[in-house]
Amino acid sequence: MRRFLIDTDTASDDAVALIMALRSPDVAVEALTIVAGNVPLDRCIQNALYTTELCGSPVPVHAGLARPIFGEPVTAEIVHGQDGLGDIGLDLTGRSAAEGHAVDVLVETICGSPGEITLVTLGPLSNVGTALLREPELAGAVKHCYIMGGTGRLPGNITPAAEFNVYVDPEAARIVFESGMPITMVGWDVSWTCAFVDPAGEARLRAIDTPYSDFVCDIQATLTEFVEGMLGIRGFDLPDPLAMAVALDPSIAETEDRYVEVVAGDGPARGQTIVDHLGVTGKAPNASVVTHVPPEAFMALLCETLS
Ligand code: RIB
Ligand code: CA
Repeated sequence: MRRFLIDTDTASDDAVALIMALRSPDVAVEALTIVAGNVPLDRCIQNALYTTELCGSPVPVHAGLARPIFGEPVTAEIVHGQDGLGDIGLDLTGRSAAEGHAVDVLVETICGSPGEITLVTLGPLSNVGTALLREPELAGAVKHCYIMGGTGRLPGNITPAAEFNVYVDPEAARIVFESGMPITMVGWDVSWTCAFVDPAGEARLRAIDTPYSDFVCDIQATLTEFVEGMLGIRGFDLPDPLAMAVALDPSIAETEDRYVEVVAGDGPARGQTIVDHLGVTGKAPNASVVTHVPPEAFMALLCETLS
């Protein structure tokens, strides 16, 4: 069994990624650690608990940071709905998180089993960055860290330069990318081109006809409206599920080892992940940057976990 720990700002794409991991027979999900992002922390917690309940999974869900290390919180209800799961009327109240703060769970779980825990991050890196400040040894203890974040090639999706997860907490992201942790970066550029579900793809997912397949499509209601309004096309992109697919089967990803610098502070480039594609900085690579995943490989893996 591979042991996963997933850090998430649970909203409509995160929930799909969680189902993929929870329903993978060779993966033991140790815990979910929750970070504020798409929607405020409490909604992320409820969404994560709803999703684990849907999967019949007893995985503990731990509350983490309610805001970024610096700066004001940034949310994305316009993309995911007020409740984060498409505002389709799900009962997303009344569930309780487990005892223990997410930062402590990250440190204790990973440092308690050196070399054994695969960390998958699906939201802003506030929890992981703080955990690294609390225990720098975490970077060397984690088996591998798959990050949905940044963009290997522009544009960004929240500003022209930045992808949402890194933009919400670039200071935390800078700590993570500079920590020496073994990182695979799955950027929004790749998810937009390799994990976009068009109407035919949605029909393929719904044809699986399980409680999971309808759920993962239904909760994309707000995202579908957002994409049509922004780009005039039908469908939805699945960045977190793509990152999870790469974590579940790294062989599907084409990667390049690159030095990645995160822009913190103020200014138009805040949150940008500057990828040194040509090696001009002379700095050693700090991430494997995913450049492509065959869309069919992604869809096949997604369909398998939903069946
Ligand atoms: O930019 C996409 C990322 O931001 C995804 O993780 C999505 O869930 C949001 O958190
Ligand atoms: Ca997310």
